[in-house]
Amino acid sequence: MTDEAAAPESLRAAVFASGSGSNFQALLDAEEAGDGKTPWRTVLLVSDREGTGAADRARSAGVDVRVIPVSGREADDVAADTLAALEEHGVQVIFLAGYLRLVPAPVVARYPRRILNIHPALLPSFGGKGMWGRHVHRAVLDAGVRITGPTVHFADDAYDRGAIVAQWPVPVVPGDTPDTLAARVLEVEHRLYPLAARHVCRALQRGEEPGPLPPRDLAFGPAPSPTL
Ligand code: GRF
Repeated sequence: MTDEAAAPESLRAAVFASGSGSNFQALLDAEEAGDGKTPWRTVLLVSDREGTGAADRARSAGVDVRVIPVSGREADDVAADTLAALEEHGVQVIFLAGYLRLVPAPVVARYPRRILNIHPALLPSFGGKGMWGRHVHRAVLDAGVRITGPTVHFADDAYDRGAIVAQWPVPVVPGDTPDTLAARVLEVEHRLYPLAARHVCRALQRGEEPGPLPPRDLAFGPAPSPTL
């Protein structure tokens, strides 16, 4: 018997996070639900600060944690430390999940179309420097748009730029505050990110350049209904 039908090996993944890490948790949960068939396996959590919720989640899941500070350091040193950690863990793909720093250019160059980011608005609107957390949802409300939602995109060395992999619409409703909107979008983020990650990792496993997620793969039901 040959092992031609054996599942391809999961890609070794690193997650970069600066905060609570609920998207990181969604990726870990998807990985666990896949029971060894998920096309990635998280081997490393990188954070730019100590004491994050994301690091706690990593430790609970048995994922190695590296804190690589960025503030006040030479960019070359940060890049060297990051590349060394990725190399040491044999990382093949990177998921940014609330990482509030730019990925160093040498890391982007080493991982072309292999770094994903999730942003809580429909890019290219409401992205860029300073557009994170409540600032994004405040700007969405101030602009008066009626539809928002998360975007998963390939990351490069600028904030929130790079080809879009997947988006999902979420309604803005009367009376929304940045917090109510953030909660509604976050619920969808937790569903969208694992889908996009699976799509990209499967393409990489097949030796193909990953592209956008086909709309048919997004048929996971309507966005959570707002409470009117
Ligand atoms: C999410 O809204 C994500 O879109 C943005 O940062 C937030 C991170 O939240 N990039 P969490 O740490 O995953 O809960």
